[in-house]
Amino acid sequence: MEKEEGSPKSSLYSRRDFFTKVGWQAFLASIGISVLSSVKFFFPRVLYENPQIFKAGFPQEYGPGVSTRWVKEYRVWIVREKEGFYGLFARCTHLGCTPIWMESENKFKCPCHGSGFKKSGINYEGPAPRALDRVKITLADDGSILVDKGLLFTYEKGEWEKPDAFLKYESA
Ligand code: FES
Repeated sequence: MEKEEGSPKSSLYSRRDFFTKVGWQAFLASIGISVLSSVKFFFPRVLYENPQIFKAGFPQEYGPGVSTRWVKEYRVWIVREKEGFYGLFARCTHLGCTPIWMESENKFKCPCHGSGFKKSGINYEGPAPRALDRVKITLADDGSILVDKGLLFTYEKGEWEKPDAFLKYESA
């Protein structure tokens, strides 16, 4: 029997064809999406941020006290003492805000919840549970200061005594 154009039977067939096509398209789309997400899995997500290791200029460029020169770019303060240098990671140990160096009060103050840290990095007020971390600091072959934020030293674990937590340097 032939299909008649415009008859209820022919419109039933075209509706069935339509839903079959939509069904197949949805099925293929879901396969496509799962294949794409599987392929994406093999490509690592790369986080573009400033490098962990950087040269922080030459020791002679620093006067005594806290230098804020590298805070914006690398989140590190370089502190010069009589016997040498240490670097402090500018990340509050409460919830991670960036404290501010307050020269007149000789302290770091966190703007988020008010934690205070001495010039050494030791916490003494507010909710911060521990001292700021120190970063690895050494001399590069060319005589400049080399900072590695990938290696942190924790005061509470006695790590500030480790050799790379402090750069001995006596000016001539
Ligand atoms: S994040 Fe610094 S005091 Fe809370």
